[in-house]
Amino acid sequence: MKIFATRKIPAAGLSMLEEAGDVTIAEPVEDAIVARKKILTGVKGADVLVSLLTEAVDRELLEAATTIRGVANYAVGFNNIDVDAATELGIPVTNTPGVLTDTTADLAWTLLMAAARNIVPADRYMREGRYKIWGPSLFLGTDVSRGGDGQSKVLGIVGFGRIGQAMFRRAQGFDMRVLAFDPPIRDLINDTDGVEYAEMDRLLEESDFVSIHTDLNDSTHHLFGAPEFAVMKTTACLINTARGPIVDEAALVEALRTGQIGAAGLDVFENEPAMAPGLRELDNAVILPHIASASTDTRNRMATMCAENAVAHLKLERAPNCVNAAVYDSTAYRERVGPL
Ligand code: GLV
Ligand code: GLV
Repeated sequence: MKIFATRKIPAAGLSMLEEAGDVTIAEPVEDAIVARKKILTGVKGADVLVSLLTEAVDRELLEAATTIRGVANYAVGFNNIDVDAATELGIPVTNTPGVLTDTTADLAWTLLMAAARNIVPADRYMREGRYKIWGPSLFLGTDVSRGGDGQSKVLGIVGFGRIGQAMFRRAQGFDMRVLAFDPPIRDLINDTDGVEYAEMDRLLEESDFVSIHTDLNDSTHHLFGAPEFAVMKTTACLINTARGPIVDEAALVEALRTGQIGAAGLDVFENEPAMAPGLRELDNAVILPHIASASTDTRNRMATMCAENAVAHLKLERAPNCVNAAVYDSTAYRERVGPL
């Protein structure tokens, strides 16, 4: 069996792949960008494609991959994959849900706290040797829990799936009032003690912190832009650990610069790894290189999960984490795997 991976996954999963077949890695150098040509040529004759979120698995690539039995993505998000095209071509696609939920929510919470309390500029101030004397107004931030005024802060969660719910659990420890927007699961939200369903406008108007936990699709692209920032509190803080293009980043830079909103904590960017001009100069933005699921244990678990899915693809078994499971009952799938 031939396993083709765009880049390396952690050893815990790689060794499972090596047991299952011959593994070829398009770009084995850890932080090198993979040449698209290497992927297009390399996938030919492969039985399974293992992809990372950095590579576009689009129609062109899927059509070139005439012999693959499935795509195993090393990520929970799969916006890098044209799932409609895969389904049409009879190709099951898998992701790594669940295992990174808490790790990702931990990082979203870290961004929230860091932005609220000016952690990054304060750390820089120390390193630059500028701390001369304690003072009452040194790096004044905003409260996350009930502060001096005794008021609960309001957290708005956009996307109340696994990670959004994990964020809600963290907020409970800080006595926050929680609003959530996620129309398909409105009833679940209203049935959950301690969280209140809110339409976007009200969520934006009332929240002190807004955290994004929805996936990226046509309806969430630029869900946050100038009109949304105009409605938010001038002290509000926006957290994004989901996908960059959900936020109009140029508009965000403008909103942060003009004080239309107070702060932002970002782990993802619209044109990653690039950042919108001006973002890196802003002290009220905390910016990280897409590390929300980056704990050793979680990345290892993602690797074994990705490998389990890849092995299931190879064995023509229903993969545990298939995002287009209906494909298994399609003529396209039977035609694809039939003659293999
Ligand atoms: C990371 O961004 C993931 O989707 O797993
Ligand atoms: C992602 O795993 C989510 O469901 O929020």
